[in-house]
Amino acid sequence: MIVITGGSGFIGHHLCNFLSEQGKQVRIFDIAPPPMGTKAEFVRVSVLDPLRLQKLFVGADAIVHLAALIDVQASVADPFSDFQVNAGGTLNVLEAARRANVPKVAFASSAAVYGNPEEIPVTEEHKTDPLSPYGASKLAAERFVLLYSRLYGMKNTVLRMFNVYGRGQNPLSPYSGVIKKFCEAISEGKQPIIYGDGEQTRDFVHVDDVANAFSLALESGGCDTPLNIGSGKETPILDLLEKMCSLSGKTSNPKFLSGLKGEIKRSCADISLAKRKIGYYPKVSLEGGLKEIVAGR
Ligand SMILES: NC(=O)c1ccc[n+]([C@@H]2O[C@H](COP(=O)([O-])OP(=O)(O)OC[C@H]3O[C@@H](n4cnc5c(N)ncnc54)[C@H](O)[C@@H]3O)[C@@H](O)[C@H]2O)c1
Repeated sequence: MIVITGGSGFIGHHLCNFLSEQGKQVRIFDIAPPPMGTKAEFVRVSVLDPLRLQKLFVGADAIVHLAALIDVQASVADPFSDFQVNAGGTLNVLEAARRANVPKVAFASSAAVYGNPEEIPVTEEHKTDPLSPYGASKLAAERFVLLYSRLYGMKNTVLRMFNVYGRGQNPLSPYSGVIKKFCEAISEGKQPIIYGDGEQTRDFVHVDDVANAFSLALESGGCDTPLNIGSGKETPILDLLEKMCSLSGKTSNPKFLSGLKGEIKRSCADISLAKRKIGYYPKVSLEGGLKEIVAGR
């Protein structure tokens, strides 16, 4: 049985369905119920409740730890809550897993640990220099995940995800909310908003590729370094808008507002280590993934 903390969220419910379709038994541990149609059993429990976690983890073969507060701006306003859930919650999950004899934890880290990359594409050897409490908490958490492998022989993995997008994503997500917002503006004939000059780049990776990456991580014997999970392609925000317009058969005249404070200029993952270590090869092209979103599927 595989436990997915945060399994009711965007990545979590896709991952649940992906693993269930492979015939795996999946259980969601979350404080919120999953969306309708998620193929998994749901247990309402917080990662801030270590004793209950330990009891509930007994018998699990592996844990995918996704539960987190993902709002970067909120982490600046309330770093304590962010640290409590994202770093403290991870330590609770690890300690409960160890005590319940669960051998594997696959952890959802983030490209936010790099801060503003000095070199593109970013390899895992790039220095870590988070720009927010969210990034700092993720960095602390991933150190603990790898430490538990070293101390207790667990077969843990850390996946540093870039900008995950796909069906059912939250328009407020700091990662790929822009796709949903562009989609809404284009279909409603409104002006899409671009912060800055639109030349800033991101690495958009489809949620199905991310689900596959977690599945590969669980099948692996663990990995002693974090792994970048992206598409390996760098996309300027203006190109993203252009692609979405052409897929919708519409034109748009974006409104440019001043750039967001602390926003990084360029982002793109070097994914060669994940290819080598766990056999991760992203399959969904940006055009293919956007087509699905534009069509509302
Ligand atoms: N979406 C991305 O592009 C992206 C990129 C890098 C990393 N990540 C990481 O991937 C993970 C999943 O992201 P997502 O986009 O699906 O986010 P999401 O907000 O959709 O899902 C997070 C889930 O965690 C749950 N949760 C929050 N606090 C909890 C608690 N105390 N106990 C139990 N559950 C709790 C929420 O209810 C939610 O269902 C997060 O750890 C996030 O930091 C996401």
